Amino acid sequence: MKQLAIFASGTGSNFDAIVKAIEEGKLDARVALLVCDRVGAAVIEKAQNHEIDTVVYTPKLFPDKSAYEEAILHDLRSRQVEWIVLAGYMRLIGPTLLAPYEGRIMNIHPSLLPAFPGKDAIGQALDKQVKVTGVTVHFVDDGMDTGPIIAQEPVPIYDHDSREDVHRRIQTVEHRLYPEVIQSLLPKEEYK
Ligand code: GRF
Repeated sequence: MKQLAIFASGTGSNFDAIVKAIEEGKLDARVALLVCDRVGAAVIEKAQNHEIDTVVYTPKLFPDKSAYEEAILHDLRSRQVEWIVLAGYMRLIGPTLLAPYEGRIMNIHPSLLPAFPGKDAIGQALDKQVKVTGVTVHFVDDGMDTGPIIAQEPVPIYDHDSREDVHRRIQTVEHRLYPEVIQSLLPKEEYK
C-alpha cells in the first residue's frame, strides 16, 4: 500500500476528497500523514475526524526554510511516505524536500496552467474575462506552478458567474480529478 502525505494549509476539501476516495476503494493508498503549516486550519479537524496523523508547523519558528523542511522530512521518513500530495499548500517546496522526493510530489491548481499561476487563479481568470478556465494536476518543481503537467480539465465560466460559482464548479472537478490522477500514477511506479 502506497503511503501518501498530504500537505495543506487551508480548508482541506481536496484532502477530504482523497480520503473519501480511499475509503470508497477508488484509490489504493493510505494517507500516512497530514502536514499543515497553519495552526487552526480547518483541514486539521478533517484529519482528526479520520484519525489521520497530523503535524502542524509554524515555519517562521524555524531558523530557515531548510530547517523547517528537515523537520518534515524526518516525519515523512519515519512513516515511509513515498508520495507527497499538495492540496492547497501555500508554499514553494524547497530543495530539502524536492531532492529526495523528486518526481513524487504533485500539486493541484485551479487554472489551466500555464495560465494564471500563483495566488488567486480564479480571480485572475475572472479579471481577464476568459470563458474557459480549469484544473491542472502537475508534478512539482522549484518554480511556482511550473512543473510538468500530468492532467488538465476545462471548466467553463458563464456570463454573470460569481467568484463563488466558479470556485464551486472548479472544486467539483478537483475532488473527482485529483484522486483519479493519484490512482493513475501509483501503480505505474511499481514497474520502474
Ligand atoms: C484548491 O482549489 C487547489 O486547486 C488550490 O488550493 C485549493 C485548496 O482547496 N491549490 P481545499 O483546501 O482543498 O478546499
